[in-house]
Amino acid sequence: MLLANTPETGGRVNGPRHVAIIMDGNGRWAVARGRPRLFGHHSGARRVREIVTSCPDLGVKYVTIFAFSTENWKRTQSEVAGLMSLFRRYIMKEMQAFVKENVRVRFIGDRLKLDDKLRGLMDEAEEMTQQCTGTNLTIALNYGGRDEVSRAAKRLATDVASGRLSPDAIDEETLPKYLDTYFLPDPDLVIRTSGEARISNFLLWQSAYAEYEFIDTLWPDFTPDVFAELIWNYGARDRRYGAVTA
Ligand code: IPE
Ligand code: IPE
Ligand code: MG
Repeated sequence: MLLANTPETGGRVNGPRHVAIIMDGNGRWAVARGRPRLFGHHSGARRVREIVTSCPDLGVKYVTIFAFSTENWKRTQSEVAGLMSLFRRYIMKEMQAFVKENVRVRFIGDRLKLDDKLRGLMDEAEEMTQQCTGTNLTIALNYGGRDEVSRAAKRLATDVASGRLSPDAIDEETLPKYLDTYFLPDPDLVIRTSGEARISNFLLWQSAYAEYEFIDTLWPDFTPDVFAELIWNYGARDRRYGAVTA
């Protein structure tokens, strides 16, 4: 029987196990207030912890957030530099809190293009939270779905060339083991804020059967209440995966 999620059930019944979020709208939020775009990014970053810490009550075990895409390098040099500095500060400031909240932090995306300092902090955050068994927070930083699949194909080809992998063994089970997300289940629900109805190169392979929510709220206005409502809505959806349900 399909039970709808309600505030009473805490969203646990038929709730999504893995929610992925495209955190969009920081720039517009700031501009609407006559402030620089970076002010919006800082306000947006402050929203992350409360969303992550609301996950256990909602039955969400994995939350993956899009922080910086492989296409975001096209922005002005000052916005990119400001974002990189925000990521460094964010990791330094938040990691103790995540350890305390039992949140395991991991990163996906191409790290090689990030600066040494940021890369070091990312490694440190992953190590520090390695033993945490609560919510799994995955941060997509310099992430692009096409870039990820291309990098995976390269490693796969290397394994075939060296004889470690037979071309016949390549299937829907093998390929995802080469993706950055090899440690994650596929997302059940993908949320995008800010009113744009596109996925902008996020989790292309992994979201093949995800449910989507495109909402108008700008990311700095995204509260745990808005998040909880989307989780409850999800429970009413009928995921058929190509089959027919009664
Ligand atoms: C999302 O907010 C954050 C990043 C892409 C880094 P935007 O910066 O894209 O905000 P808008 O879309 O311009 O409002
Ligand atoms: C997607 O947002 C990337 C992140 C949220 C990090 P963008 O604002 O970069 O996407 P487009 O340019 O509107 O497609
Ligand atoms: Mg945007």
